[in-house]
Amino acid sequence: MLQNSIRGFSKKRPVTSSDDTLFSLEDVSVTFGNLKALESVSLDIHQGEILFVTGSSGAGKTTLLRLLAEQLKPDSGKILLPKDLIGVRLFISQVFQDLKFLMNKTCEENLFHSFDKKVYKNKKIFLGEMNDLCKILGITDRLHLKMEQANGGLKQKVALIRALLAKPEVIILDEPTGSLDVDNARKIYEVLSYYNMKKKLTIIWASHNRELVKEFTGRIIHLDSGKLVYTGHACFI
Ligand SMILES: Nc1ncnc2c1ncn2[C@@H]1O[C@H](COP(=O)(O)OP(=O)(O)OP(=O)(O)O)[C@@H](O)[C@H]1O
Ligand SMILES: [Mg+2]
Repeated sequence: MLQNSIRGFSKKRPVTSSDDTLFSLEDVSVTFGNLKALESVSLDIHQGEILFVTGSSGAGKTTLLRLLAEQLKPDSGKILLPKDLIGVRLFISQVFQDLKFLMNKTCEENLFHSFDKKVYKNKKIFLGEMNDLCKILGITDRLHLKMEQANGGLKQKVALIRALLAKPEVIILDEPTGSLDVDNARKIYEVLSYYNMKKKLTIIWASHNRELVKEFTGRIIHLDSGKLVYTGHACFI
């Protein structure tokens, strides 16, 4: 069901934007010792948008994501989060590079951990969505593997599915396709694009691979040595 809806979905999606600001950074800098990881960055992120954060290694992508996820505070400047801007603490799923799993459990058991009675009416609905996502991302036949046996690509897919099953309002992804080939990266985008359109999921996706994200619909911001040097829609570059 979900599977049929998602297939080919991204091809149909228009460029969307919204005026509801969820995150606002004003002249934000983050310093580690003498190093400016982010320098005077000003940026608004809107509800329901897909934002790609690009830049080469060390450009400051993860640092920016950590600010948004409240893992870091700026050394100067101002950052406003959803709780400040819309008065609600939104549920934000995070998929960072240091993926954390129950390593001696299987992929499937790790996914079961996302089941929350407060989020799903019953386990059948949860399992239906979980199985659909596993099929779409092509991991059904590897769900029995222990996490410690899983390769990087499988781990990234399990982490993404786990994050989506928690039904977040915002998802923050740090290099979610770093271990995947282009076709698999496109599948990940297609799934996320579906959740963006159908469930108004706000997506913040960091990638060093600008060529890849240029294929996708969304807004790109580009960081260079901690400075925000470009902002614009991916399809117009
Ligand atoms: N906790 C930290 N302590 C010291 N330096 C840090 C810390 N976190 C990041 N840095 C430095 O800040 C700069 C920006 O790092 P960041 O991880 O944000 O870059 P990135 O764009 O995510 O890079 P990559 O593509 O390699 O993940 C780098 O020079 C990095 O070494
Ligand atoms: Mg990084």
